[in-house]
Amino acid sequence: MDIYEALYTTRAMRRLKPDPIPHDVQARILDAAIRAPNIGEQWRFLLVDDPQIMAQLAPLYRQAFERLLSQYGVSLDVILKDETLMGRIARSGYHLAQHFAEVPLLLIGFAGTREGSGIYPALWSAMLAARAEGIGSAMTGVLQTFFADEVFDILGVPKDAGWYMHGVIPMGYPTGKWGVGARKPVHEVAARNSWQGELGFTVPEPLWRK
Ligand SMILES: Cc1cc2nc3c(=O)[nH]c(=O)nc-3n(C[C@H](O)[C@H](O)[C@H](O)COP(=O)(O)O)c2cc1C
Repeated sequence: MDIYEALYTTRAMRRLKPDPIPHDVQARILDAAIRAPNIGEQWRFLLVDDPQIMAQLAPLYRQAFERLLSQYGVSLDVILKDETLMGRIARSGYHLAQHFAEVPLLLIGFAGTREGSGIYPALWSAMLAARAEGIGSAMTGVLQTFFADEVFDILGVPKDAGWYMHGVIPMGYPTGKWGVGARKPVHEVAARNSWQGELGFTVPEPLWRK
């Protein structure tokens, strides 16, 4: 796959088929991921595909998702009917929260630092490699925000070894189609030479299209 196609179309896919992802595919995803920038910081990648473990994580994910919404003062009933982008994200997020136990594979990244700057490039590489394999994924953070302790217990992660959980990434073959992620255009979020400096170009439409 062309790298630009992967970059433009690796977007949150939360509606996933329960079909298992073969181990050779998982191996290619992880082996690509660990080529990401790294300065020798500790990292560890945990794959979860045991239905019994997923059944323990699922209620925590659902509670965490609901807690996130209430933290932002968002009513589930209202946001699920919202026709804006936020409504679409919320509906997709709610679907994942309702079906978390059926996700065929989770990739969870652990790092030796709280901010996790050393592991996010690898997690994003894993998502890109998954895209190249036709596998959808989504970066999620609610489990680590609200239930890190409980997840450590479920997964047997040592609590006294300085590990921090970063990024829980559901993966699976998507039920929907790949599309280009909607973002504010480049000229609205970038500048040149100074904070308000003229960038010198505008990009009204995504520069990659199938
Ligand atoms: C650090 C981080 C944490 C996130 N946590 C969650 C999450 O817990 N649950 C969720 O549904 N989406 C989460 N998202 C949002 C999605 O991964 C995705 O970026 C967003 O919905 C935009 O989707 P798109 O790429 O399809 O446009 C998170 C994103 C980031 C960068």
